[in-house]
Amino acid sequence: MSEALRVGIAGLGTVGASVVKVLAGKAAELTRQCGREIVVVAVSARDRSRDRGVDLAKAAWFDDPVALAKSDGIDVFVELIGGADGPARACVEAALDAGRHVVTANKALLARHGLELAAIAEKNGVLLNYEAAVAGGIPVIKTMREALAGNTVSRVFGILNGTCNYILTRMGAEGLTFEECLKDAQRLGYAEADPTFDIEGYDTAHKLAILTSLAFGSRIAPDDIYLEGISNITQADIRAASELGYRIKLLGVAQRTEGGIEQRVHPTMVPTASVIAQVNGVTNAVAIETDIVGELLLSGPGAGGNATASAVIGDIADIAKSRPGFQHGPVFGRPADELAPYVRAPMRSHEGGYFIRLTVHDRIGVFAAIAGRMAANGISLQSIVQHADGDNGEAEKTVILVTAETTEAAVRKAVEGITEDGHLTTKPQVIRIERAG
Ligand code: HSE
Repeated sequence: MSEALRVGIAGLGTVGASVVKVLAGKAAELTRQCGREIVVVAVSARDRSRDRGVDLAKAAWFDDPVALAKSDGIDVFVELIGGADGPARACVEAALDAGRHVVTANKALLARHGLELAAIAEKNGVLLNYEAAVAGGIPVIKTMREALAGNTVSRVFGILNGTCNYILTRMGAEGLTFEECLKDAQRLGYAEADPTFDIEGYDTAHKLAILTSLAFGSRIAPDDIYLEGISNITQADIRAASELGYRIKLLGVAQRTEGGIEQRVHPTMVPTASVIAQVNGVTNAVAIETDIVGELLLSGPGAGGNATASAVIGDIADIAKSRPGFQHGPVFGRPADELAPYVRAPMRSHEGGYFIRLTVHDRIGVFAAIAGRMAANGISLQSIVQHADGDNGEAEKTVILVTAETTEAAVRKAVEGITEDGHLTTKPQVIRIERAG
């Protein structure tokens, strides 16, 4: 049997501890599958004294994760520290420069610096594996990079943040407040250290940027993403969506259009009957549409220790199975220097249906004025619902419009016009509707 694969792990939080636990518990099975043992020989974390419920007695302890990354005693460096810069970036660069394979779950690092890191890995003939960075336990990176070779992707979209999906699901099913649900997500270990990253959509955006590059062979463009989080979604939206036959999900969507590639993250109405609408709780889902296979939908746990550890261990096992001299495929499916420049499609030209919720003064002519603004901007309405009372009783009414397919530019102009007309009592709510099977 070949020599054991020596693994060094930096970061022993929820995911790191799960990786150590599963590698130990499944040692015999992994050895059979990989043809060699996988041994955690060294670790690094901030607090040495913390009890993580795992046996680290045989692993060397490094206070400095960069020293671990460069150590001659390891073959694979596993980065589970997190963060786009700082120690995570320093370690991964050091490991790749030293000719070590790297496994990381760090979406922010990949989204920000993935191209430079891929170039170093490809130059040094080592693997940079990052399955756990996108959609937790779902093997979407391997699917897109390897299984879908030769397919031309037209759209990839999904629920990429477990925390947001957990919050929206519980708000919908149990009528709980946003804050109550967020607290539970944090308690269960789903949320990022700073939950703003989850709820304002940055985490989804980082994951989407990686998927976009794999889907379209383009350079990663994390700053060219239209971004809206879920913090302004209210029970009123959730109830109205349900009445109209929709559920609200935070989606990341990347789509090829005539004007370039659209990358957007925003709360989205999906038909209640669609498969993606049934994806609840911390579960993630990624839909991929291509010319050859048609439509794929992968779903599974997107956050949490074991789900993420499963992806990390799959990546380590791939390295254990690889042999010296074997040519590894490029990190983003094409050599880093052959990825095409990203061409951003302007958000104003986005086409789709829209849900618009307006709270208006209860007076004659308001309805006609709203309809007039819609018509003036060439927007055809699919449904109009008026509720007897708005949030403030008799003085106001809630009007909900669902548009037929139109453009973002037309909707923005119509809503600006309605606002200028002075009929609104609160800020209008606009939620895009996504076509989903
Ligand atoms: N905070 C992330 C989520 C964890 O909620 O999905 C996985 O990236």
